[in-house]
Amino acid sequence: MAPKLTINSTVKLNSGYELPLLGFGVYQTPKQQCLEVCTEALKIGYRHIDSASDYHNQGPSAASVPASGVPRPDVFFTTKVPKRHYPLGYAHTLKLVELALEETKLGYLDLVLIHSPYGGAENRKGAWRALVESVEAGKVRSIGISNYGIHHLEELEQYIAQLEAERGGKGKGGIISVGQWEVHPWLTRPDIVQWCRARGIAVEAYCPIVRGERFGEPKVKALADKYGKTEAQILLRWSLQRGFVPLVKSVTPSRIAENAGLYDFELTEAEVEDITTTDYSPCAWDPTVSPLGN
Ligand SMILES: NC(=O)c1ccc[n+]([C@@H]2O[C@H](COP(=O)([O-])OP(=O)(O)OC[C@H]3O[C@@H](n4cnc5c(N)ncnc54)[C@H](OP(=O)(O)O)[C@@H]3O)[C@@H](O)[C@H]2O)c1
Repeated sequence: MAPKLTINSTVKLNSGYELPLLGFGVYQTPKQQCLEVCTEALKIGYRHIDSASDYHNQGPSAASVPASGVPRPDVFFTTKVPKRHYPLGYAHTLKLVELALEETKLGYLDLVLIHSPYGGAENRKGAWRALVESVEAGKVRSIGISNYGIHHLEELEQYIAQLEAERGGKGKGGIISVGQWEVHPWLTRPDIVQWCRARGIAVEAYCPIVRGERFGEPKVKALADKYGKTEAQILLRWSLQRGFVPLVKSVTPSRIAENAGLYDFELTEAEVEDITTTDYSPCAWDPTVSPLGN
């Protein structure tokens, strides 16, 4: 039987590092609120913060680590580089990693993801090579991608093999530790999840509570009533029990606590299945469908 999940549960990444299963997202969290809400989250017990250079708040988010008194090694901090409207590629990615180190003052970054596949093959490959070198330089511990479709993932896998051949063997092309996508019961991405699971890549689920847009769905509501929990908690529990790493965002202290109150109940396997749909219903963007040339 799988061990009972707790707020301290982690998954071991292909890089060898441990990723805490419950993540705290800061997309659209105003810069001036980040220190306060991330400190609150760390005090409650979250140990994983998901930021991005494009969120313009990685500095104040990371400042919560010393402010909370939680030791640096106990916190897993993610940022993402580059996105559509940046000049993508090798040099710019190196620059963004340096900037993230400067802004966060964390000494190293636990995880850096390529935010989306936009930018074309040469830029995607250049960005990946910059991340591989950042790991080798001790600036970044684990690397991965976000919003890649299967065609982008296969391109990356081939590029890793090419780098290994050019740079002297296994591991020299970098290791994909994490992939991040919008995932919830109305967008389960079976093909991508299967691709990742076959390679031991951890799947992070963004918009795990669908930004509240699905509250009131009868099956989820019935489970919330049955367990005396909220619909947000049911959706987060679905995510954890499907083996995902949910990244949930809130600037509201009561909700930050609520979203971590997930460990005193468990859905049955049948209940997890029952709220899973085959819909394709994103609530955010979906770059996975963009062609390789974009
Ligand atoms: N890689 C990517 O492209 C990408 C894209 C989107 C998101 N992400 C990551 O994933 C994280 C989460 O995604 P998200 O922020 O879009 O969606 P989400 O976490 O599903 O939903 C956040 C929204 O739900 C509200 N909320 C939070 N907890 C609640 C609760 N218990 N009850 C009712 N409402 C609640 C929040 O409001 P308040 O804040 O006002 O409380 C906010 O409006 C982001 O912060 C980011 O780190 C990554």
